[in-house]
Amino acid sequence: RHGFRRSPQGSVLWLFTVMLCLYSLFFSWRANLDITKPLFLGVVERFWLQSNLVVCALSGCGLASVCSTLQRLIGVKVIGERAEWLTAIVLIALQLHFNFRNCNQSSNYVVDKFARNILESMDSNAIILMRGDLPGNSLRYLHYCEGQRPNISLVDQEMMTYEWYLPKLAKHLPGVHFPGNRWQPMEETFSDGTITFNLHRFLNENKHKEIFVCIGLHEGDPTWKWSYSLWPWGCCEKLVPSKTIFRPEDWIRVTSNMYNWTEKYGSFDPLLWEAVANEEMWQARMKTPFFIFELAERPNQAESATAQLYTYAYQLYQEMVKTEEHPVNWHKNYAIACERMLRIHAQADVAVDPDFLLSETIKHFSLYVEKTEDDPQKDAITQMVSHLKSELQRMRKLSKG
Ligand SMILES: *[C@@H]1O[C@H](CO)[C@@H](O)[C@H](O)[C@H]1NC(C)=O
Ligand SMILES: *[C@@H]1O[C@H](CO)[C@@H](O)[C@H](O)[C@H]1NC(C)=O
Ligand SMILES: *[C@@H]1O[C@H](CO)[C@@H](O)[C@H](O)[C@H]1NC(C)=O
Repeated sequence: RHGFRRSPQGSVLWLFTVMLCLYSLFFSWRANLDITKPLFLGVVERFWLQSNLVVCALSGCGLASVCSTLQRLIGVKVIGERAEWLTAIVLIALQLHFNFRNCNQSSNYVVDKFARNILESMDSNAIILMRGDLPGNSLRYLHYCEGQRPNISLVDQEMMTYEWYLPKLAKHLPGVHFPGNRWQPMEETFSDGTITFNLHRFLNENKHKEIFVCIGLHEGDPTWKWSYSLWPWGCCEKLVPSKTIFRPEDWIRVTSNMYNWTEKYGSFDPLLWEAVANEEMWQARMKTPFFIFELAERPNQAESATAQLYTYAYQLYQEMVKTEEHPVNWHKNYAIACERMLRIHAQADVAVDPDFLLSETIKHFSLYVEKTEDDPQKDAITQMVSHLKSELQRMRKLSKG
């Protein structure tokens, strides 16, 4: 204890301090995540735990230094080492007291359940084209570490574009045919013998299996659109040959109770991956009615077919908005579906009271405007609501008169 600056310990401390600063500055400079998004802020906060080790070491030395300075000033030996130990223990105990509950994740199975639900929903010989950290890591963990669904093949979309991925991993995915060494939208043969293939060729070569994408397909290669379509499958989507006829009743039956998800909506801190998993699982319920609604919007169809599709979308949404807490966009989707039902109610097989439809449209557009944060159409919707309200009054007057 010869003071901070002159001793060899002093130079080690300075070294640590400089390392800490360089490390923090360097990584803050290189980090390219958009921290205005809560999840990415959380990722950045959790990422650099190593620097905490240095902070702990420096705090310990700081405490020793403070104690020895105090002893020198007061000149009493009584406080001695015991006080130093006591202070250190109290500081650590306080940390535990305030943070343990937060760090005790022993009953947190949210991401685990997320991945299990997805795996369980797939056919036993399926190929899953994965994308992103959440499905990628959680599905890989269950599949490779816990041996769940051994006959499903997991293929990472992003990694399939790397030179090393298929040469090293293709042999571990028996039953999946890779028509080359690397995925790339442009099919080429390089001078070193590397052959690239596009998604369309990959799909044609693997027609013997069901193929799903979780979550979303890489935008860089649209060749699949030549002869495939994406149909909603919970959080994921299924790639089906475009010629396949879509039967809404069947698809509704297959997808409506696909997952067993019991977490409450919005019950996780948006800084956490659990919040993302929860959001995905909730929005998964909306995918089928959304898809059916989009089909109904296509021009040049028989009126009866359009009416039938709108009716399915309307009925599914109506069931969904009954939940107490649910994603805000469901209000908007349901309101739009009600409005379409109002337009086609003459052709609809199911008779729905126009007064009810108009009231529902108004109610759920209003709820949407009230709860949404950043919809550029907000003002337009507010205007439409007041217009619809006067329509409703007019309609009621007419029916009375
Ligand atoms: C951690 O949390 C679980 C459940 O949330 C609880 O049962 C357990 O007692 C906690 N552990 C400690 C050491 O407090
Ligand atoms: C996986 O495939 C093998 C070989 O085709 C088959 O024997 C086995 O029963 C399958 N396992 C499951 C869980 O479907
Ligand atoms: C659904 O999840 C709940 C809670 O996690 C569990 O108790 C229940 O057994 C599950 N049901 C099915 C059919 O998997």
